[in-house]
Amino acid sequence: MSKDFKRYLITSALPYANGPVHIGHLAGVYIPSDIYTRYLRLRGRDVISVCGSDEHGVPITIKAKKEGITPQQVVDRYHAIIKESFEKLGISFDIYSRTSSPVHAETASAFFRKLYDDGKFVEQTTEQFYDEEAKSFLADRYIVGTCPKCGAEGAYGDQCEVCGSTLSPDELVNPRSTLSGATPVKRETKHWYLPLDQYEQMLREWILEGHKEWRSNVYGQCKSWLDGGLLPRAVSRDLDWGIPVPVEGAEGKVLYVWFDAPIGYISATKELTPDWEKYWKSEDTKLVHFIGKDNIVFHCIVFPSMLKAHGEYILPENVPSNEFLNLEGRKISTSKNWAVWLHEYLVDFPGKEDVLRYVLCATAPETKDNDFIWKDFQARNNNELVAVLGNFVNRALVLTKKYYDGEVPACGELTDYDRETIAELSTIKASLESNIENYRFREALKDAMNFARIGNKYLADCEPWKVIKSDAERVKTILNIALQITANIAIAIEPFMPFSASKILKMLDCEAFGWESLGAMDLLAAGHKIGEPSLLFEKIEDAEIQKQLDRLDAIEKQNKAAEVKAEPQKAECSFDDFQKIDIRVSTILEAEKLPKTKKLLKLTVDTGIDKRTIVSGIAEHFSPEELIGKQVLVLVNLAPRDFKGITSQGMILMAEDATGELRLLQPDKKTNNGAVVG
Ligand code: 2FM
Ligand code: ZN
Repeated sequence: MSKDFKRYLITSALPYANGPVHIGHLAGVYIPSDIYTRYLRLRGRDVISVCGSDEHGVPITIKAKKEGITPQQVVDRYHAIIKESFEKLGISFDIYSRTSSPVHAETASAFFRKLYDDGKFVEQTTEQFYDEEAKSFLADRYIVGTCPKCGAEGAYGDQCEVCGSTLSPDELVNPRSTLSGATPVKRETKHWYLPLDQYEQMLREWILEGHKEWRSNVYGQCKSWLDGGLLPRAVSRDLDWGIPVPVEGAEGKVLYVWFDAPIGYISATKELTPDWEKYWKSEDTKLVHFIGKDNIVFHCIVFPSMLKAHGEYILPENVPSNEFLNLEGRKISTSKNWAVWLHEYLVDFPGKEDVLRYVLCATAPETKDNDFIWKDFQARNNNELVAVLGNFVNRALVLTKKYYDGEVPACGELTDYDRETIAELSTIKASLESNIENYRFREALKDAMNFARIGNKYLADCEPWKVIKSDAERVKTILNIALQITANIAIAIEPFMPFSASKILKMLDCEAFGWESLGAMDLLAAGHKIGEPSLLFEKIEDAEIQKQLDRLDAIEKQNKAAEVKAEPQKAECSFDDFQKIDIRVSTILEAEKLPKTKKLLKLTVDTGIDKRTIVSGIAEHFSPEELIGKQVLVLVNLAPRDFKGITSQGMILMAEDATGELRLLQPDKKTNNGAVVG
């Protein structure tokens, strides 16, 4: 039997403020959490949804160092971008806070202090890597070296980004500090540990016995952590960016980011309402954490142990976690810029917020990793949103305008088909509710869209545009039903596509209906005058998609180029050997394609010594027009060679880029032809 809760507290993983949000974050966490929250609000439940930026942690300090700015400047920049882009996408948090806020510092400190005072931590002194030049302990990310697994240079102390292996700094070959380049040494340091082993039994009972209904990916990960046995975890770090450890003798130490971040949910609630304790400390609250799969251990094992250790807090009722979303068949990567960034999408596709919400929900990686494909995005918009949802709403409204000057006609006697259609709508309602309440948002979206599918079919089957000629009374009933379905759609799609739901309400000239009205066939009174119909969705043309694909192509090329290793150096050559080579600045005077060849261009160049012919195999890279007038470098004393009966006297110097493109080598300023290169 599921318990009846009095209120709901929804949390969404706090995004790190070291970069903007991308579609992987949205599909994994924020779209599902927003659908769930909006649904509960529509049902009139007492619900709050909290989130904020995660502003501590080593990646932020590394980014700041790289850019020569302070960590605070980094988080200020990204907090603003993330907050604004969430708002624009209609992600309706009740509060979007940040972990650099004073309330958070106070809340996290007090939390630590209580655990400390209650003797819940164990103190341990261990040896950690230390940079003697920079006089600083080194987080794993601050140590680089050669990967022991694949030999790549620049592997981090916690991971090799080339082969993906998880590492510890001890394993790195030739480890160096990124602060000073010095070889790190080991030095003793004291830290506070949460003895997770002491919570193992509680966690086993609570999750493995008590929450068998959790998604199998979440349950499975928890089981394997628990079966593997838990160890004490350090909750402090030697760093200067974070919340200072609030005890004597802890100078230079801050709370570990994964200790302070989840407390951010509590701080955000505190900032939102003086009633915050009601949400966090009452068994009548249903606490749900929406997260990505890389956060499972922290939300199901570590944070619950912290909450239990504290003693006053409730534990989550569920932790719906999605798998990963890939982009065009490849893993989304922030460092490789292989992502669709929300703030950029909002600029490229203004007014299409709901399209992204729709596609990301329809393709959400709920049970397995899934792919975001731009062509699929276009097809879902054009074939589902435009052709089904938009088309139905538009037909219902336009016909009402046309036949009844925008007044809702009265419903007459129902046919069997009308009754079947109405009955079908009420079965969908039940399925939609059950799917949302059980975190099956893809299925729920299908249910919501079924209102439109049924409406579309109803109009297509009833053909009011034909019947109007023979039975005008019947058409009133058909359009009354079509308009009632339209009003139902405005309710059903609200959690998924809130902008379109409001647009429908505006076109119907109606106030928002509550969820309890879903399925009703008397939402619009006969005689009510509707507003002006306009298109709900617009077709997305190939060119818009191509622009996105071209952008990804360019990124792929850049990434490939960055990965390419230069060819090894050739055998040594003497200065005398080098002196034999005669390279001159020259100007291309004429260029033409050699007939019956694919690759060859015949060029006439002014070498300063003479005007001569050079045959060059570059026709696939350059058009004759773009070469004429260009200055280039020519190896002029290369022995002549014949190509298709033409003698080539020299060679144009080029470099081949890692992308396979050829680049002309040119003097950086106009230079007299014949100038010697050397
Ligand atoms: O993985 C992440 O992006 C983390 N910043 C999530 C933190 S969730 C919570 F604990 F705050
Ligand atoms: Zn490696």
